Amino acid sequence: MKTYLVTGAAGFIGANFVKYMLKKYDDIAIVILDKLTYAGNLGTIKEELKDSRVEFVRGDIANAELVSNIFARREIDYVVNFAAESHVDRSITNPQLFLQTNILGTQNMLECAKKAWTTGKDDKGYPTYLPGKKFLQVSTDEVYGSLTKDFDVPQPLHIEDENVRRVVKGRTKIQTYGRTFFTGETPLDPRSPYSSSKTGADLIVRAYHETYKMPVNITRCSNNYGPYHFPEKLIPLIIKNILEGRKLPVYGKGDNVRDWLYVEDHAKAIDMVLAGGRVGEIYNIGGFNEEQNINIVKLTIDTIARLMQEEPRYRSVLKTSVENINYDLITYVSDRLGHDMRYAIDPTKIHRELGWLPETKFADGIQKTIRWYLDNRAWWETIISGEYRDYYEKMYGNR
Ligand code: NAD
Ligand code: DAU
Repeated sequence: MKTYLVTGAAGFIGANFVKYMLKKYDDIAIVILDKLTYAGNLGTIKEELKDSRVEFVRGDIANAELVSNIFARREIDYVVNFAAESHVDRSITNPQLFLQTNILGTQNMLECAKKAWTTGKDDKGYPTYLPGKKFLQVSTDEVYGSLTKDFDVPQPLHIEDENVRRVVKGRTKIQTYGRTFFTGETPLDPRSPYSSSKTGADLIVRAYHETYKMPVNITRCSNNYGPYHFPEKLIPLIIKNILEGRKLPVYGKGDNVRDWLYVEDHAKAIDMVLAGGRVGEIYNIGGFNEEQNINIVKLTIDTIARLMQEEPRYRSVLKTSVENINYDLITYVSDRLGHDMRYAIDPTKIHRELGWLPETKFADGIQKTIRWYLDNRAWWETIISGEYRDYYEKMYGNR
């Protein structure tokens, strides 16, 4: 039986990962470590907390005493480090917190894992480790910086390699806004305080691998979407605002491009990297699914409007009338400082080495996500009743 220490699992992706793993495997144990910042929510994992395979510890990944105590009490096989300050806009207002959690917190997790897993030294002086251990750092494609957007109108994407083409199997619209993609060879070039702090974390993970031979992997995923996504990020914020009849703030011209992946496909990739990823390797995760922000916003409006027609029972969730769900809700606001233009992942390596393929097409995933927000109004209403109000006012009040 494997025991996982999963940090940040009261947040969006960590929680979805825990749900995925508990469903997939009977014989695992999971220790969740989460500080429960504004982004952490026990309501997100309330069913999992009742599961005898799960232990929850509230605390900071940067707290050495607390983390070493977990390693002393439990035989941890895998660390999956999701915990982070994750929102770019917040990093622009408070960069230091991002350095503390994302860099120092990660270093503390590494140090505690190293101490707990070390068995001795080899003849060159490198530490040796208990077998089967691994530290997986959940990183992001933002560490690569920004790609150029070469086409205003998206072009059909030709994937040369027949095997890699399986990543987009069954899809009709496969497009790109540029000629280049993020690969494992792309130089690190972060631009925001958030992405710089995640890059710092990646570098310290690599340093522990090179210097101490720690068994590590780093995964770098593109933008996730799905259930339990905090409504400060584009897709859940747009869904929530449509349901409330509020304006939809689109930064700049709305022409920035993101590469969207359904969160469960990210969870699946992490599971595969833990089980089969070569030690010390970095895996990029993404499903060739680029789209401009404005098109994501329009698609979300169209999908909600259609669902309201097809399933009138959903109208009870609305705080506005069905007629108001249209493009007039869109409002262009001042741009994010240092706004990265385009992200696009080339997932060839993870597909070739581990056989990873995304399962959820965007058209299905966005619908599933919207339905989830319609069916789980209590979840997001609780969130937006607290600190969120101040945040929203500060972030969007004068924009
Ligand atoms: P999130 O903001 O939804 O959740 C973060 C979680 O970490 C919360 O539960 C929070 O309470 C916890 N946390 C924050 N600081 C902590 C600390 N010091 N100690 C312990 N717990 C702490 O984030 P998310 O969107 O789920 O992202 C998870 C990870 O995945 C992050 O590392 C992020 O950089 C990475 N990532 C996110 C995306 C995306 O699209 N959201 C894509 C690629 C990678
Ligand atoms: O690429 C992976 C990254 O994706 C993760 O590492 C981050 O943790 C995650 O937050 C996400 O970063 P982005 O900055 O791309 O996501 P966000 O949802 O904040 O913004 C997506 C795009 O939408 C971006 O171009 C900015 C724009 N946007 C965002 C918000 C919140 C708007 O136009 N209006 C908005 O109100």
